[in-house]
Amino acid sequence: MSALPLLSRKERPWWRDAVTYQIYIRSFADANGDGKGDVNGIRSRLPYLKELGVDALWITPWYPSPQIDHGYDVADYLNIEPDYGNLAQAEALIKEVHEFGMKILVDIVPNHSSDKHAWFQEALQSAPGSIARERYMFRDGKGKDGELPPNNWQAVFGGPAWERIREADGKLGQWYLHLFAVEQPDFNWENAEVREHFEEVLRFWLDRGVDGFRIDVAHGMIKAPGLPDVVAPDPKAEMLAPENRPFWDQDGVHDIYRQWRRILDSYQGDRMAVAEAWVSPASRIARYLRPDELANSFNFDFLSSPWEPITLKKMIDRSIAALSEVGAPSSWVLNNHDVVRSVDRFDLALIPGKANTTLERHGDVTKFDIVRGTQRARAGALLMLALPGGAYVYQGEELALPEARDIPEDRLTDPRWALSQQTDRGRDGCRVPLPWRSSPAGAFGFSSENNLTPSQSWLPQSDGWGTFSVESQDSDPDSTLNLYRRALAIRRGEEALGDGSIEWLDASNSVLAFKRSEDFACYVNFGAPIALPKSAQVLLASSPINGGMIPTDATVWMRISSK
Ligand code: NOJ
Repeated sequence: MSALPLLSRKERPWWRDAVTYQIYIRSFADANGDGKGDVNGIRSRLPYLKELGVDALWITPWYPSPQIDHGYDVADYLNIEPDYGNLAQAEALIKEVHEFGMKILVDIVPNHSSDKHAWFQEALQSAPGSIARERYMFRDGKGKDGELPPNNWQAVFGGPAWERIREADGKLGQWYLHLFAVEQPDFNWENAEVREHFEEVLRFWLDRGVDGFRIDVAHGMIKAPGLPDVVAPDPKAEMLAPENRPFWDQDGVHDIYRQWRRILDSYQGDRMAVAEAWVSPASRIARYLRPDELANSFNFDFLSSPWEPITLKKMIDRSIAALSEVGAPSSWVLNNHDVVRSVDRFDLALIPGKANTTLERHGDVTKFDIVRGTQRARAGALLMLALPGGAYVYQGEELALPEARDIPEDRLTDPRWALSQQTDRGRDGCRVPLPWRSSPAGAFGFSSENNLTPSQSWLPQSDGWGTFSVESQDSDPDSTLNLYRRALAIRRGEEALGDGSIEWLDASNSVLAFKRSEDFACYVNFGAPIALPKSAQVLLASSPINGGMIPTDATVWMRISSK
């Protein structure tokens, strides 16, 4: 085995081992009965999260926002969206999370603001070249009268990444860059005021006690000098670009993180930041995790891998090797609010020619088998939680929620839907409000308003949503909820889990088998049933073990003899 960490789990920073639970605030719990989740809803469910056994919470953007991209279009970084509550409630939540012995991260969105942000409104009313325009990416257009966009960049959500504005005289004028929706103008990170503002934002929330930040589009803030055209057949700003793009992963972002790290380190406790950096290969991720930069970066290679042992093993090895170069742990992740839920993904990915089911919603759903998908998602979860490093769990993952495919078209809210000319249904299917109770009242217990029906929550819930509810799963020993609870409890008690080393064991091509210590092993079986290793004692299994056999699509944690 490679070297074990020198410090014990208690001594090393919490974020090297933590299991962090992502709360998509709009869909978690609705305390004021308006069909949208809120801060007080989260407060009411802290006992649930404590019992689940996670170490930290990450709250998706809760700032005032027109909600074009559900909070990733921020109008004011120093306040709380009125639909979600107020600052006093947010402060109370931070305190209560700590009282429960958990950490709390907030989402920071530095690449772009909402077009309703006071700075952008000021920029629109100011002249080209003014101080206000300099805070964003305004440029003159090309062509005789500036009628063509400044370059060929296409937005992530579809369509051109540039929007032309009308100047004060009513005439068409400059263009501004928006790598996402038109309502999400990109900041100019070469501008000192922008940098200073975000330092103030960090301090504002650190002063209120947050333990860190999830950094949105962490690889996007700096653009290549001169904003050159993308020289590739498709200039689209895909999040995981197949090759270099002049707007992703530029060297200059690292100066920002070095400065942010200094701020984080100036506070007591192990304050940290996790990057949402869709960059590849893992050696590029490692650059964000150098000792004077960020703590974690989501492992999107893991999330993007199909349910296939050889690909997974290679990816795991490459990640661990690249990150160990900079002394960083990996942060495994299988789900978030942007991707097809793992229950569906691990099954749909099998369909030939439709491999990319992560960000694009392809896949032949007629062949989707929810039983098999659920088995794989459960097996994937135990694999993830046994790997060295930390993990991020997305709300509803612990309930094995599938992707909701029955949202009526007129209820879809993701900007992708309209911007893709209604060819991509977007991400709403993984964002449907959580079912807490089995009966439909109060949108399956999501809302405190009992009269609210499942179709009246901000996104409608499917008819059968109650079968996935916390209430239905709570007393069922075989439920996915109880699988997560037990896995997290074992993980907490097992010093070798979390950060540390991995030793692969000999196994067939359809099995991943590894040890995390002399007596703890994890077997993941992708093929026909296999016998448990001799004298193994099962600690936890994602599917029932019958007659000493590990079934297909199952993961087993076991105690093995140290000889
Ligand atoms: C990544 C976020 O996770 C996603 O939800 C959002 O749409 C984009 N960044 C733009 O902020």
